Amino acid sequence: MILVTGGAGFIGANFVVDWLAQSDEGLINLDKLTYAGNRENLAALAGDPRHIFVHGDIGDSDLTSRLLSQYQPRAIINFAAESHVDRSIHGPEDFIQTNIVGTFHLLEAVRGYWGSLHDDALQGFRFLHVSTDEVYGSLARDEAAFSETHRYEPNSPYSASKAASDHLVRAYHHTYGLPVLTTNCSNNYGPYHFPEKLIPLMIVNALAGKPLPVYGDGQQIRDWLYVTDHCSAIRRVLDAGRPGETYNVGGWNEKPNLEIVHTVCALLDELRPRADGKPYREQISYVTDRPGHDRRYAIDARKIERELGWKPAETFATGIRKTVLWYLENQDWVRNVQSGAYRAWVERNYGERQP
Ligand code: NAD
Ligand code: DAU
Repeated sequence: MILVTGGAGFIGANFVVDWLAQSDEGLINLDKLTYAGNRENLAALAGDPRHIFVHGDIGDSDLTSRLLSQYQPRAIINFAAESHVDRSIHGPEDFIQTNIVGTFHLLEAVRGYWGSLHDDALQGFRFLHVSTDEVYGSLARDEAAFSETHRYEPNSPYSASKAASDHLVRAYHHTYGLPVLTTNCSNNYGPYHFPEKLIPLMIVNALAGKPLPVYGDGQQIRDWLYVTDHCSAIRRVLDAGRPGETYNVGGWNEKPNLEIVHTVCALLDELRPRADGKPYREQISYVTDRPGHDRRYAIDARKIERELGWKPAETFATGIRKTVLWYLENQDWVRNVQSGAYRAWVERNYGERQP
């Protein structure tokens, strides 16, 4: 079996459900269930004996060591992280604790376990670390997209903490020989995306008749990938990636934020028109920019395509339509994640931003 961390979050849950749809290999899912982790994301797996959910922290090496010796996984995929840039600006400490200290404790437990393996189990073992394009910093408009050799230049507490975790993972390969793989992916979108992030926030606010808060001039560029394409890339890297290597994953879909918001509004105009017949884009509200806001991300995904034959299956047009439809059809999920803590976050982040 394999062990997945952070498998109750957005990408992790999509990965776990996808994995069990495509394989009979069981999976242990270790998740702390922070505000971003939600067992409802895994409801499709209720009663499935191949899915073993464990509520716990990657920083608890006693727990992870116990799980490793009990289940003897052949691979670990580390999704667990604090993932929201704005939250890292308001309070970096959890990011340091989970993304850096937590990853360190996980690596230590894994190093001990891996050292106890023999023969094929030792040779075949992999530790796959899921990281982000944000570690490379911000690109100028005419600069080439991030390749795997681009210098690290993280700008937010979130991206700095992810960069630190990438460095630890790299060091465990170089120093101890741990067979690690690292993926650095661009912005994901799709089902179960927590509505603190741009795309789900815009859908949810639009439907609630609330303002659509665009930071600064809305011309920041992100490179969007449908979440199941990220999952297929991770599976491919796990199967065939070379230990010690990093693979950039992206969708060749660079778009300015304002264009994303207009696309979401246009889809909602078509699929769920406003009662007053007016377009949703009238709800757009320009608000104070994110401090240190990275202007542009773009991924050069040629290495994973050339070496491992991976390419995204979705275009942005197909992926965003599926996403908007999913939110329209899953309003109960949206209501359930909008707890008191969610409302407190919205008040904190947007209360201070002047329209
Ligand atoms: P998310 O915030 O939706 O989910 C994170 C999950 O990790 C949650 O289930 C949470 O409960 C769990 N978690 C947090 N701290 C933990 C801890 N100490 N121990 C165990 N579990 C813990 O994040 P996501 O968007 O699904 O991102 C998953 C991973 O992918 C992260 O490492 C992130 O940096 C990376 N990534 C995300 C994107 C993106 O666009 N969302 C893009 C590239 C890379
Ligand atoms: O690039 C990969 C990264 O993508 C991941 O590593 C992160 O975990 C993930 O959260 C995401 O980071 P971003 O900061 O790019 O995503 P977010 O959805 O928060 O913001 C996307 C863009 O939209 C960014 O330029 C900020 C802007 N934005 C965001 C919010 C929440 C707004 O204009 N208004 C908003 O209300």
